[in-house]
Amino acid sequence: TVGRSTNIVWHECPVGKLERQKLLGQKGCVIWITGLSGSGKSTLACALSRELYCRGHLSYVLDGDNVRHGLNKDLSFKPEDRAENIRRIGEVAKLFADAGIICIASLISPYRQDRDACRAILPENAFIEVISSLHDAICNVFMDMPLEVCEARDAKGLYKLARAGKIKGFTGIDDLYEPPLDCEITIQQKDGVCPSPAAMAEQVVSYLESNG
Ligand code: PPS
Repeated sequence: TVGRSTNIVWHECPVGKLERQKLLGQKGCVIWITGLSGSGKSTLACALSRELYCRGHLSYVLDGDNVRHGLNKDLSFKPEDRAENIRRIGEVAKLFADAGIICIASLISPYRQDRDACRAILPENAFIEVISSLHDAICNVFMDMPLEVCEARDAKGLYKLARAGKIKGFTGIDDLYEPPLDCEITIQQKDGVCPSPAAMAEQVVSYLESNG
């Protein structure tokens, strides 16, 4: 097909994934953090990466905002561009996991179909392995923060601009957010109080520990 890669052959590298994992003393996986703007995704990603580092684990954060400064700088916030943003980050996250690294992907990823597609590109049976062990797994973390909380925070002033019609297609205002139906971890308010960054990171680390 014109415009697509053809006549390409997969090359196996003599250094395998198991060797890389042994070298690093950990299994690679993808922790996918989804939620509205201002729901705390980046805060959790950074706290988690720090906590893993303190425990001697190598992780790397792929933050939607940051990746849009480089690899994905050609993409807008139209649904098809968001889908491509998510697809590319999913593919990069898969490479990180294959390298043996705990990849923390933190992006709104508003559409269920795009997130499911990322889950699906991980090796066969990866989803089932999430249940017994996180080897090759994608682990879905949902920041279940009400829109009012995110909007009240409005750290970047973007909700205000979206309400004023100065940003079109803003997630939660005039663009859809589809919450996961079957995520592994949900971060929620408790008695109207948002968990601290350390508490959120602890919730994810406990999940990782109890799942191998
Ligand atoms: S997506 O939907 O997954 O492709 O978005 P993502 O790559 O995570 O980028 C979200 C950040 O972009 C800023 N921004 C917007 N967000 C939502 N909708 C619109 N229209 C928009 N325009 C700019 C905003 O700073 C988001 O960052 P976070 O960290 O989520 O607040």
